[in-house]
Amino acid sequence: LKGPSVQTSAKLQTSAARRAQFSSPFTPFARDLPIAPELAPVSGKNGVDVYDVDIKEGLAEILPGFETPIYGYEGVYPGPTIRARKGRPAIVRQHNQLTFDSNVHLHGGYVPAAHDGHPMDVIAPGASFDYTYPNEQDAAFLWYHDHAHGRTARTLYYGLVGTYLLHDEREEELELPQGEYDVPLVLADHAFNKDGSFRYAENVDLGFRGDTMLVNGAVSPRMAVQRRIYRLRFLNASNARSYELRLGNSRQMLQIASDGGLLEAPVARSSFPLHPAERIEVLIDFRSFKPGSEIVLQNVAADAGTTKSVMRFDVVDGGGAEEARMPRGRMRTLEKLPAPNATHRWDLSLLTQGGVQWQIANRGFDPNRIDVSTRLGTSELWQWHNPSNRVHPMHLHGMLYRVVERSSGVVHPGERGWKDTVGVLPGEDVTVQPWFVPYEGRYVFHCHSLEHGDKAMMLQLEVTK
Ligand code: C2O
Ligand code: CU
Repeated sequence: LKGPSVQTSAKLQTSAARRAQFSSPFTPFARDLPIAPELAPVSGKNGVDVYDVDIKEGLAEILPGFETPIYGYEGVYPGPTIRARKGRPAIVRQHNQLTFDSNVHLHGGYVPAAHDGHPMDVIAPGASFDYTYPNEQDAAFLWYHDHAHGRTARTLYYGLVGTYLLHDEREEELELPQGEYDVPLVLADHAFNKDGSFRYAENVDLGFRGDTMLVNGAVSPRMAVQRRIYRLRFLNASNARSYELRLGNSRQMLQIASDGGLLEAPVARSSFPLHPAERIEVLIDFRSFKPGSEIVLQNVAADAGTTKSVMRFDVVDGGGAEEARMPRGRMRTLEKLPAPNATHRWDLSLLTQGGVQWQIANRGFDPNRIDVSTRLGTSELWQWHNPSNRVHPMHLHGMLYRVVERSSGVVHPGERGWKDTVGVLPGEDVTVQPWFVPYEGRYVFHCHSLEHGDKAMMLQLEVTK
C-alpha cells in the first residue's frame, strides 16, 4: 500500500516559491483549529439514525499552499464527527471507494461482533456495509477507524480516522459544556515530503514517529476561546507516539472522562499521559483569563522528537452567559464488576528470528485460532507483562475494562474509570479487569501501536453464552 495517489492541482504543487517556504517542523499557531464537519443523518426514521459515508481518496489543506493526498471518510481528514445519543441506534453505511479492502472499527463501542470491524471482516472495493451501532452504553468519546488486517499503520496515517461522540442525559444533568464548547481534538504526529504529501517510513520496532504535530489536521493550531468553560476531548490518533500534555505554567485542567466515559468524580490534573488510541476529556475554565491571554498546550513527554507545542488557546472577549458548570463531587457510579474467575498473563515481546513479529504470550495473530474463551457476563484479570523497551497500548474490542494495578506505582485516579486501551510502559506489568458484556462473539485484542498490531501483536477472544 503506497498511499493515496489523487492528483493535486498543478498550480499549488509546482510553485517554486511554495517549495522555498517548505521547512519542517512548521511554524506553530499560524492557523485556526479546524473542526471536523458533523455528519448529518440521511434518515431518522423509526428511531434509527442512518448515515452514509464514502471511504475515498481526497485532498487536505494541511500546509499553507499545499494539498496533501489522503484517504478519508467522506474524503476529509479527520473524518466527519458523528454525534449519537444513548438509546438511539445508528446505522453507518460505509461505501468503500478505495482500490483495496477496508473496514471500520468503532473503537470503544459496545458493538455486536459482526459489526465490530474485525480485521478479517472487510468491505471489498466498490462494496458497502451497514454498520449497526446500538448506542446502549453510557456517554463516551468513541472513534472510528480502518481495521483491515496488516495495514492499519498506513491507512490511519493517511487519514482513515473520525470521532464518534455518544451523548446521554447524565451529561446534561451535570451541565457540561455543549455544542461549540464541546470540542474533539484529534492529535497525530506526521512528516511531509517536499511536495506536501505525507511521508511515511515503516519502523516496526519503534513505530512511525513524525516531526510535526497535527491537531484536527492542522499544524499546531490556535483556537480562539471565549471566557467560558470548555470541554476538550483529546484523542491520540498517532501511530505510535505517546504524549504527556500540559498547559503553560502547569495551569490546571479538570479531567472528567476517560476512554469509556465519565469518571466517578472529576480529577484535577496539571498534566496527563495520552498513549495511542486513548482518550481523555478535560474541562478548562477560561473565565479567569484576560482577553488576549495565550495559553500553550505542550507535549512534555521525554521522547519528544516532535514539535513541543501542540496547540494554543487564545482567549477572546465575548460569549453569552455561562451555561455550563464545573462539576464537583460524584458524577456517576461505576458498575461493580463480578469477581474475576480467571487470571491470564500476557507477555509482550518481539520475535526477531525469521522476520519481525510482535507477540502476545509467544503468539502472533492467527484468525483461525481462538486464544481465550470466556462466558458472557463474567470477568477476569488480565496481566500485561512488558519486558520490552517499547510502550504497548493494549486495546480490547467490544468491551471495557478497569485498570486494577500498575507495577510501576499507583493507578492514577484519572485512570480508574472505564477504559478500552491502557499504556503498558517499558518494564511494567499492568493488570486490567475486563467485563465480558454485552455481546457474545469473536473479538480481537491487540497493541494499538499500529505497526505492532500490523505485525501480528493481536489475539482473539471468544465470548460465549
Ligand atoms: Cu482502535 Cu482494534 O482498534
Ligand atoms: Cu506494541
